[in-house]
Formats: sequence, structure tokens, C-alpha cells
Amino acid sequence: EFNKLVFSGVQPTGNLHLGNYLGAIRKFVALQDGNDCIYCVVDLHSITAQLVHPDLPGQIRSIAAAFIASGIDAEKHIVFNQSAVPQHAELAWVFNCVARIGWMNRMTQFKDKAGKDRENASLGLLAYPSLMAADILVYRGTHVPVGDDQKQHLELARDIAMKFNLDYADNIRKAGLGTDIKVGDEPVHAYFPMVEPLIDGPAPRVMSLRDGTKKMSKSDPSDLSRINLMDDEETISKKIRKAKTDPDGLPSDIEGLKGRPEADNLVGIYAALADKSKAQVLSEFGGQQFSVFKPALVELAVHVLSPITAEMRRLMDDTSHIDNILRKGGERARERAEKTMNEVRDIVGF
Ligand code: ADP
Ligand code: NA
Repeated sequence: EFNKLVFSGVQPTGNLHLGNYLGAIRKFVALQDGNDCIYCVVDLHSITAQLVHPDLPGQIRSIAAAFIASGIDAEKHIVFNQSAVPQHAELAWVFNCVARIGWMNRMTQFKDKAGKDRENASLGLLAYPSLMAADILVYRGTHVPVGDDQKQHLELARDIAMKFNLDYADNIRKAGLGTDIKVGDEPVHAYFPMVEPLIDGPAPRVMSLRDGTKKMSKSDPSDLSRINLMDDEETISKKIRKAKTDPDGLPSDIEGLKGRPEADNLVGIYAALADKSKAQVLSEFGGQQFSVFKPALVELAVHVLSPITAEMRRLMDDTSHIDNILRKGGERARERAEKTMNEVRDIVGF
């Protein structure tokens, strides 16, 4: 049996938005109770799609500030920056040799981000999921809270772990390492665990405010499509007022949200922010017009986000506190990652 360890990461690219908060960071906060958690700013990932960033150090601090402002306890758990722990990249190299090119070619995020000119995408963008597997498995992480866009990458992490366990089975035993687990019904002597995604919750995928069929994303060119964690009250209010809806009012039950992605999204956001189910939200607002619902959503969003925004601003004003957290977190993470890499070098034969 593997000890339960929660790991997740967020890229330091662009503004954090409500999708990142509801799909990821808020789950990180909730999981702290009773679990060992490691939360990482994944800066190595940020250069896969865009090599040069105007202010990468500032972006890294702002993600760490969002973690802390949202309530992550960096003393009890670990908050750090990926590049501070070179063992991630070292294990990723081994995983690049475990993984198959065909597995990588099938990743929908790669296809989306590479676009039409695939031959010209960076090799790093193709190998991204292998580094992500290393991020988690260098701590032998078992549980990964993410939005549902990351599900395919986590399946790939399991495939990589499984292939490593099987290809190196003899060496793992010879080194006196690994533990017996069951994968389905099959007993496996495993060095790396099979990671479990933690995706569920009322808002596993927050959609764009301008187009209910696209996910809310940092890379959407329209700023009206997303609520950023650093938006002030007026901006939040404007974006929600302008959010696309259909002409009907709110239905009285979930069935009535079918085929209405914009309405479904706004109800889902309200439910997630209020910690309620969509059905509960509809029992309160069913039959009302969006002219009534939207102001209620603005009020709730401001109520939840404004304390986080204020704390992020405070932390960003004096960067020494965040820099300290990242430095100490990096030291603690390095120690744990090196323990794994020592064993992996033994298994591989380095
Ligand atoms: P982005 O996709 O905006 O570039 P990241 O790739 O850094 O953001 O994702 C950070 C975390 O936020 C991941 O766990 C991802 O699943 C989650 N996430 C990103 N966008 C959304 C969304 N629209 N809804 C729910 N979760 C999301
Ligand atoms: Na993403």
C-alpha cells in the first residue's frame, strides 16, 4: 500500500481565473484536512507553449500568492516552484523513455495547443504529460485534484507508472523496493502508484462567459470570457451582466438546463461558489429571470473572491514573504524528491 499523498500544480501563465479557482485551488484547500499535500507552481511547463514570458518571476509569485490567499497552509503542507527541484526534470527524462510517441500524439490538449502547424510545436509541448507524470510521481503522489480537462493526462500518468513497474519489475525486486498492489484484478509489484484524479465537485469545468461550449481559459483572447481572481467588484459585475444567456428564465429543475449551456454554466458557478447543488440553486431561483439571478451571482462572487483578491494584493506588495515560502518549500520538496530519485537511479542502473 502507498501512503496517500495529494499533489497538484498550476502553471504561472496569465491571470488565474474562476475556473482555476473552482476546478483546482479550492479543492487544494479542502484536501488539506487530514492529508499530506504538495502544491506546485509548474514553471517548467510554462515554457512549453511560449518560450519567453514578460515577467515569469512575477507570475510565479502570483500563483503562490493565490495558493496562500485561498487558504493553503504552507507550514503544514508544501508550496514550491517546480524548477527549484531538478529531480522533476530528471525523472521526466526517464519517463520520456518509458512513454511512447503514439501515447503523446493522442493527447487532446497537445492537439489543441499545437494547432494546425504541429510539426512546428515544441518538443516540450508534446512531452508535457510526461513531465506532469514526473511532477506527481517524484513524490509517489496518489491523488491529484484537477479540473476535468486534465483527466487524459492523468490516465497517461497511470500508463507510464504501469509500464515502468512492469519493465523494471526485476530491478525493483532486486533493489528490495516496491509494494504489492492490485490494478483491476491483476496483482502488480509496483514502485510507482496508480494516481487517482480528484475531479468531481459542482464545477469540474467552468465554461467561458461568452461561449458556453468553450472552457474558461487564461488563453482566451476575450477578457470578458473569464472572471480573473484579481478582478475588482466593478469588473466582476460588468462581466456577469454581459455574460451570454438565452432569452428564457431559470428552469425549476436540472432537466430544464439541458441544451442551455450558458444557463447551465451560470447555475453551476453559483452552486460551486455557494457550496450547493445545482438543484438547490434552482429550487431557490427557478422561474426567475436572469435580470434577478445575475445580480445575486455578482454578490456571491464578490463575497467569495474579494477577500482572496485583497490578500493576494497584500502578498504581492511585499514579495519577501512569498519568496520565503517558495524557498523553504523548495528545500523540503527537494529532500523528498531526491529520496525517490535515488531509488529510481538504483532501479534503472545509473
Ligand atoms: P489554464 O487551462 O487556464 O491554462 P492550467 O492549465 O494552469 O490553466 O490549469 C490549472 C488547473 O486549473 C488545472 O487543475 C485545470 O484542470 C484547472 N482548470 C483550468 N481551467 C479550468 C476550467 N475552465 N474549469 C475548471 N478547472 C479548470
Ligand atoms: Na489546463
